[in-house]
Amino acid sequence: MLLDVRPMAGRKLAHFPGDRHIPLSQLGRRFARLPKDRLIVVYCQFGGHAREAVGLLLDRGFTYVAALEGGLDEYSRVADPSIPRYWLTPTAGELVLRQFPRTDTGCLAYLVGDPTEGEAVLIDPGIDVSPYLQVLSEAHWKLDAIIETHTHADHLAGHHELHRRTGAPIVVGVRSPAAYPHRALEEGETLRIGHDEVEVLETPGHTRDHVTLRVGQTLFTGDTLLIGSCGRTDLGDGNPDLLYRSLHEKILRLPDETEVLPAHYGTRHALPERYVSTLGFEKATNEALRLSTLEAFRQYMTDGWPPKPADFDRIVGANLR
Ligand SMILES: [Fe+2]
Repeated sequence: MLLDVRPMAGRKLAHFPGDRHIPLSQLGRRFARLPKDRLIVVYCQFGGHAREAVGLLLDRGFTYVAALEGGLDEYSRVADPSIPRYWLTPTAGELVLRQFPRTDTGCLAYLVGDPTEGEAVLIDPGIDVSPYLQVLSEAHWKLDAIIETHTHADHLAGHHELHRRTGAPIVVGVRSPAAYPHRALEEGETLRIGHDEVEVLETPGHTRDHVTLRVGQTLFTGDTLLIGSCGRTDLGDGNPDLLYRSLHEKILRLPDETEVLPAHYGTRHALPERYVSTLGFEKATNEALRLSTLEAFRQYMTDGWPPKPADFDRIVGANLR
């Protein structure tokens, strides 16, 4: 059985279906109700309280107990990103991140919010904007900006609809050919989320207008760097030479512990079960990064990619209008 030892507040956001709930503060009084002949996996938000609870249960004569290492937060990061990763009592200044995977297109959208200020931004929203609107209204957050890392060629994006529904401005890279009203950011410019900021790094290659977004130690790499691979350069105005430079002269110069959150999963050789990575892990394993010469990279970007989507011109047109 699964046992949640978080305070009640934590459960309002997410918990495992069918679990039991006894807050750690009450476990010393209520442990007698738990079965001693079944495995109990104890969990909390980050793992620390669960380990404490396991110690307490072992002292009380339980044998089959274990803590979920890393807690619900880690489980959400590596196993099931549909579970919200944010928590109700964030440390002051701590941003909240929510990843939205779309199984039909393999796209990943992100909501980054400052719970203290009640402000959030959305990165690369999909065409169905209802999940974002639901989270925004549940958390009582105001949407400050809708950021497109680049002009998407493989799917219709949700920036227009989200702008229509929330009034939030659409923010793109300075090289975007967008025909709609937008704010264009160039290299080094920042955008505020509450007390924090999003920094823009221009990373052309997958498309000319591509930007990567840096928030503290987290990098929203769009399709510049995917998990295990990189975005293709044969749709629209992509260019392998530019992508090689963006990867090697900009992205790879950041610290290894930088968290990598891409805009796609499951394309080509990306690992479908994992939606988050680190630069260190990618440097060691990513096949696109292991090609140390531009010639080898050009070859890689030419061979073996799936056929171009038949309607990518129409999609690009719709996303830009
Ligand atoms: Fe893309």
